[in-house]
Amino acid sequence: MLEVNLCGLKLKNPLILASGILGSSASSLKEIAEDAGAVVTKSIGLEERVGYRNPTALNWQCGLINAIGLASPSAKDFAAELKNFDFPSPLIVSLYGKSKEEFTKLVEIFDFANAFEINLSCPHVRDAGIEIGRDLELSSEIVKAMKDSTDKPVFAKISAMHDYIKLAKVLEKAGADGITISNTIPGMKIDILSRRPVLSNIFGGVSGSAIKPIALKCVYDLYKILEVPVIGCGGITTFEDVLEFIFAGSAAVEIGSAVFYSKKIFYSLKESLLAFLNANSLRIQDLIGSAHF
Ligand SMILES: Cc1cc2nc3c(=O)[nH]c(=O)nc-3n(C[C@H](O)[C@H](O)[C@H](O)COP(=O)(O)O)c2cc1C
Repeated sequence: MLEVNLCGLKLKNPLILASGILGSSASSLKEIAEDAGAVVTKSIGLEERVGYRNPTALNWQCGLINAIGLASPSAKDFAAELKNFDFPSPLIVSLYGKSKEEFTKLVEIFDFANAFEINLSCPHVRDAGIEIGRDLELSSEIVKAMKDSTDKPVFAKISAMHDYIKLAKVLEKAGADGITISNTIPGMKIDILSRRPVLSNIFGGVSGSAIKPIALKCVYDLYKILEVPVIGCGGITTFEDVLEFIFAGSAAVEIGSAVFYSKKIFYSLKESLLAFLNANSLRIQDLIGSAHF
């Protein structure tokens, strides 16, 4: 009832842990993978990255704003840690880098992953993430190079801030197996007593409920024009949110900030979805894109 097939990955449900949530701890990923359909790791580059100094994340009334700065261990260290774990759901390794050579090296290091997600959308790191996604030629070369070096599915994670229709089309043509949308959206907060931006990086990426309607529209738009699956991400907190994304055209959904509010979110969403589907004699796979007419 809840099972979906995402480019050959058999997911027990359509709920995927989004990248970066829970940092880069393999044991936390494994815990979430008990209930989630799949888990995406923190985005990893070849070298260790320290990230920005604190404060790097804040909680406000409609979600989070973060500028962690892609703090992460080196690819080799993280791969060594991940390899020791037997994940109960598919493991999707998220990668960032600047060139096709870096991405193909990363693919080799994580050859045990079930799939890859390339981060073309982090809004607060120079020379990576969203800046790469703005270069259509480079993004396309990266996807082609990755597809030449692995048989595993390659998902490209883009942003609502991109010219996302154009970019998604280019990535699909280059061979991307699916498009994830969206990463966080730039935003900031100012402390009224010090009159200074709260985050050390001044601005960060907004996630959580505030961005849900934006991400939902992106999914709706992309479903209409792409052949490959779309994976919606942004502000999903309730099972009703999950259904909206599925109806808009998400083949599966990624959930990030909601995990900060409840570590059992995957269990409760899964159970609520199951109750809804049972009550209406429906299967999730049949509902994808059903808001389109
Ligand atoms: C603390 C934090 C760290 C994140 N790190 C990454 C990352 O390393 N790579 C990435 O592609 N997205 C990263 N994201 C973005 C999330 O994966 C997700 O796209 C975004 O938060 C929107 O989903 P949400 O509203 O469910 O959180 C991060 C988000 C947060 C809040």
